Amino acid sequence: MLEKYLPEGWDLNLRSVVVYRHSLTAADTAKRLASHISLLDSDTAYTYGLMHDVGKFHLKPREFYKHPRVGYELLKEQYPDIAEVCISHAFPDFASFEHMLRYCHDDKKEADAVYSILQGITRTSYIDLIQFCDKVSGVDGWMSLETKFDWYCSKDEIIHDEITDHYNMSLQAVKLRLDELVGEDVYGVLGIT
Ligand SMILES: [Fe+2]
Repeated sequence: MLEKYLPEGWDLNLRSVVVYRHSLTAADTAKRLASHISLLDSDTAYTYGLMHDVGKFHLKPREFYKHPRVGYELLKEQYPDIAEVCISHAFPDFASFEHMLRYCHDDKKEADAVYSILQGITRTSYIDLIQFCDKVSGVDGWMSLETKFDWYCSKDEIIHDEITDHYNMSLQAVKLRLDELVGEDVYGVLGIT
């Protein structure tokens, strides 16, 4: 399904390949975890994982901060459920405008748009699942939230401060909800140590 929503003449540059492989890994992770959650359908989870970053294929890397909303706009008419996964996947706390503004590189117009769309979305277990699977999925394998967070910091993509502490805690809360649904530590299910 992802191929259908790639731009014409999809640019096979390194970044696109990395995003593509990350999307496949996130899809596989989502399917695997969903198979342990009776409330969720594995194939639906796979599609959500596969599509969550579709907006990135339509943007230059310096505009990647817009990809949650761009993915949402791309899919909202035909697949509103997938669109909601796209816009929500980067924001573990829908109420934290400060984090949205930081994520959007202080582009207030973009952060306002994201915030207003998210206020109309109800958080579901699928949204939790994709937020978590996105974060623990690398290009070809899995890592803990803690390792991913350290990686972000090493790349200066985010800086330790109150906002990122809050972001980290929100993601840990997402993981705890999934632990509860699965009935055990999800790291154990994925073999993350
Ligand atoms: Fe993303």
